[in-house]
Amino acid sequence: MPIHNFNSGPSILPKSVYEEAARAVIEYNNTGLSILEIGHRTNWFIQIIEEARSLVKELMGIGGEYDVLFLHGGATTQFMQVPMNFLDQQARAAYTDHGIWGSKAINEAKVWGEVDVVQSSANSKYDHIDRLEFLSNKHSYLHITTNNTVEGTQVHHLPETNLPIIADMSSDIFSRPFPFSKCSFIYAGAQKNMGAAGVTMVAIRINDLPSISRSIPPIMDYRKHIEANSLLNTPPVFAVYVSLLTLRWIKEQGGLGVMEKRNHEKSELLYNTIDALPVFSTYVAPSSRSQMNAVFFIEDELLQQQFLDECKELGMIGVKGYRTVGGIRVSMYNALPLSSVQEFCSLMKDFARRKG
Ligand SMILES: Cc1ncc(COP(=O)(O)O)c(C=O)c1O
Repeated sequence: MPIHNFNSGPSILPKSVYEEAARAVIEYNNTGLSILEIGHRTNWFIQIIEEARSLVKELMGIGGEYDVLFLHGGATTQFMQVPMNFLDQQARAAYTDHGIWGSKAINEAKVWGEVDVVQSSANSKYDHIDRLEFLSNKHSYLHITTNNTVEGTQVHHLPETNLPIIADMSSDIFSRPFPFSKCSFIYAGAQKNMGAAGVTMVAIRINDLPSISRSIPPIMDYRKHIEANSLLNTPPVFAVYVSLLTLRWIKEQGGLGVMEKRNHEKSELLYNTIDALPVFSTYVAPSSRSQMNAVFFIEDELLQQQFLDECKELGMIGVKGYRTVGGIRVSMYNALPLSSVQEFCSLMKDFARRKG
């Protein structure tokens, strides 16, 4: 039975990527060594990480004013490391609050300085994201989450602001063309659109890194990572390699414009199907819907469980909603083929006909 992988992350990767990664585990590039055995200071690995860093820049359309790092600790570590490096004691940062991950980032930032939540949809179950215009001379930066993986909303207009923008793009990185150069700092865990779990990509506009009065442990200090060309300590070699293969795949497929076209086609089909079938409903505002994660419900919980069971029987995995939200969540990252969404929508229609 073919598997349709709708997991929210770690999630589906292009077949060619994991096949090549598997070959490299046996032997990397005729070296007589597994990729798992090569040192991070060998020319082999330096070529891998340098190509990955330069492909990130190429896909983002950013130049030498930025540096790209591959770090440990997941996006969650960035929730702490960002304010540690960008927010002085007594200084204030502006955060938007549109979901569980953004609210975790807010709580971490409060440890390091003062935080003002300048826009929130918490009072309406995080069901929308309004356009934001925010001018300020008292905040060090504005932090946003471009895609809310759990709630199924996505930023469709970058805020208009005079502040440096810091963006958590973990769940929509490289899914669409994006004004990356309007951001001072972008971070993303790799495990959705950019590779395997275990590495976090960070892009920093170097001149926007402020001088901070606190002393920062070297491993948490972006400047130290930049000076060391992202080799301050042993990087997650295999995860960086899988990111390189995924970045190459995105480029070979035609880049971010092609990713967006495919992602739009998939999400449009799914949302049209939800809207057409009364048994399914979503409270996410149409103008805020995510192209990556669609979150919706069947009001009758027993019926919803039956639907989830049928998905499992048909090899459609990862469609149960996040534990705090419930319902159904379908993640449609870059590598998910349109045919998987078509199969899923056929099941929805068939289910609605039988149970509606
Ligand atoms: C938008 C967003 N930010 C942060 C995280 C946390 O990432 P990690 O588990 O890599 O720390 C996730 C995880 O799914 C996410 O979706």
